[in-house]
Amino acid sequence: MTHSDVGALLISLRKVIKTYGEGTAAVQALNGVDLDIGQGEFVAIMGPSGSGKSTALNILGCLDAPSSGHYLFRDIEVDTLTRNQRALLRRHYLGFVFQGFNLLSRTSAQENVELPLLYRGEDAAHRHEASRRALAQVGLTGWEHHTSAELSGGQQQRVAIARAIVTQPLVLLADEPTGNLDSKRGHEIMELLGSLNRDQGITVIMVTHELDMAAYANRVVRFADGNVGSDSMKVAA
Ligand SMILES: Nc1ncnc2c1ncn2[C@@H]1O[C@H](COP(=O)(O)OP(=O)(O)OP(=O)(O)O)[C@@H](O)[C@H]1O
Ligand SMILES: [Mg+2]
Repeated sequence: MTHSDVGALLISLRKVIKTYGEGTAAVQALNGVDLDIGQGEFVAIMGPSGSGKSTALNILGCLDAPSSGHYLFRDIEVDTLTRNQRALLRRHYLGFVFQGFNLLSRTSAQENVELPLLYRGEDAAHRHEASRRALAQVGLTGWEHHTSAELSGGQQQRVAIARAIVTQPLVLLADEPTGNLDSKRGHEIMELLGSLNRDQGITVIMVTHELDMAAYANRVVRFADGNVGSDSMKVAA
């Protein structure tokens, strides 16, 4: 499979530079990244600690903006958007999953999953329906009313994934989603991400340190010193 075999170009970074801090304390986290990702790809981002993986993912996910360079999402020039416009784009097209789940602990699974819909101003009936459907998709039917504190790590990450997909995003971005899980739960989460990619056509971009998790992706992009060091298509495990 070559890059041209996957769907239309979805994401394009050009000469993206990200500098944190100023003067002698400045750190250049990204040094001119060029990266194209097609609709429907499942991309693993690997590389040493500090190589810029999270910085790149946060920019792709519109959580942060580049210091310079261009980010094209479909036909939208993201780097020209205001912070509020970026937030809108994020709410409509992107879902995020983090290593630490980031759920509200004394809040039910269903309420956690409904949050992005609440931000979008959807009515209660639609929120309930959509959150139940998303929880079913991640295998948590029957757990809707349990609080996060009553769920295992693997279940909490499933709730976080349900929250990320409840808005039916084009792209799911995940930063070390299995980093806090044991190997068995980690593989279950990867199976889930793989099926969301295959069955729903959601583009998945995931940072991981683990080769056996990256094996679920069909492309591995390796970062080194704030840039793409290597980029290879591979057959899923
Ligand atoms: N908010 C910030 N302020 C200042 N420097 C930062 C900030 N975020 C990241 N950096 C620096 O930018 C560089 C890239 O960091 P980044 O978090 O993208 O690396 P990473 O590849 O995700 O590493 P890890 O595998 O440890 O998560 C590092 O040198 C880091 O110290
Ligand atoms: Mg990181």
